[in-house]
Amino acid sequence: MTTRCPILFSPVSFLGLQLKNRVVVGPMTRTNAADDGLATAVMADYYAQYASGGFAMVIAEAAYVDEEYSQGWWNQPGIANAAQRDAWRQVTQAVHAAGASIILQLYHCGSLNQGNRFTKESLGPSAVRPPGKMAEHHGGSGLFPVPRAMDKQDMRRVAHSFVAAARHAIAAGFDGVEVHAANGYLLDQFLTTDTNLRSDDYGGPVANRVRFPREVLQLVRSAVPADKLVGIRLSPTKSTNIEYTWPGGVEEAREIFSTLGEVGNVYLHVSANLGIAEPVFGVAENLPSMARRFSGMPVIACGMLEDPDRAEHLLASAQADLVALSRAALADPDWPIRIQRGEIPLAFDYGAVEPNSKIETALAWRERKRAHLALPSAP
Ligand SMILES: Cc1cc2nc3c(=O)[nH]c(=O)nc-3n(C[C@H](O)[C@H](O)[C@H](O)COP(=O)(O)O)c2cc1C
Repeated sequence: MTTRCPILFSPVSFLGLQLKNRVVVGPMTRTNAADDGLATAVMADYYAQYASGGFAMVIAEAAYVDEEYSQGWWNQPGIANAAQRDAWRQVTQAVHAAGASIILQLYHCGSLNQGNRFTKESLGPSAVRPPGKMAEHHGGSGLFPVPRAMDKQDMRRVAHSFVAAARHAIAAGFDGVEVHAANGYLLDQFLTTDTNLRSDDYGGPVANRVRFPREVLQLVRSAVPADKLVGIRLSPTKSTNIEYTWPGGVEEAREIFSTLGEVGNVYLHVSANLGIAEPVFGVAENLPSMARRFSGMPVIACGMLEDPDRAEHLLASAQADLVALSRAALADPDWPIRIQRGEIPLAFDYGAVEPNSKIETALAWRERKRAHLALPSAP
């Protein structure tokens, strides 16, 4: 093994969870569940590959939390009922057996419903049609519907769905849960001025806009045993609006991160598709460093960190505690082993792997590429 990137590949205790190194798989929706949202054997194989490829932890894809408005895509897995909880066990067992930890991302689509078997309608902080169009590779087409503005009772129901889902996830063998408040989905819609036009104490200044995500995080943290991970994912940009940034810049970041950090015993996961290591808001600092500084909590950074030296630098300069790879992990689930061996990992190729294509397609592509390049399979 090479000594390249000694910090990246050294063990760490992350909020008490022992990890064999500091590289994790970012959450990636694969829409490969059964029609009723049950995780499948194919998913167990798929996730176990990351574990045997050397990743210390997997953040499993966004799973919907209730049987109402939370599902966003057809064939998305759920964690909303006992059958879904039990179906995830094959996944957690396979990943643990292959030597990694696994946590589950908890998700509510909010106004971005493009495939929900319980309803065609959607909820949001305000009745604002989300920008952009439904993704055709997810079976959607046209504009998103205008969501119904949530009242306080809706908010209580949703918060309790996150709690129930978190309990199901722990019972299914996950090592923790991550609350999805990024990329423009429900909790991010509360954070975002474009989609949150509320005039109550959940709208207006950022201190109000962060209130609901914080309440959900707090309730989930209280419901999950202290030795299991709880975190929250944040990103200024949205899947339907990559131009969006936090309008208040550093001060907005300070309010969001410090408020969420007050929950305690949680991690913050920050992502940016165009590069999380880049400085933001016109200052010299990047988002993970701000998240760490303002929250006082450990941070996972995700976004174009497939260059291991860049990832190592982020850790060495104490700007993040773990790095997450999404596209790079999808392209080569053996990424950690290859870097440690001094090999070049397979590169992500949008042309060959449609980002949200089915798992089988991704696996088939990888095998073709492996054969083509005559690359050795990792053990
Ligand atoms: C196929 C695919 C599916 C994704 N699904 C999710 C998801 O379920 N939850 C989420 O928070 N981010 C999701 N993302 C975003 C990634 O986790 C990550 O933030 C983004 O790809 C940037 O990181 P990267 O440069 O390492 O790929 C997805 C990305 C891809 C490519």
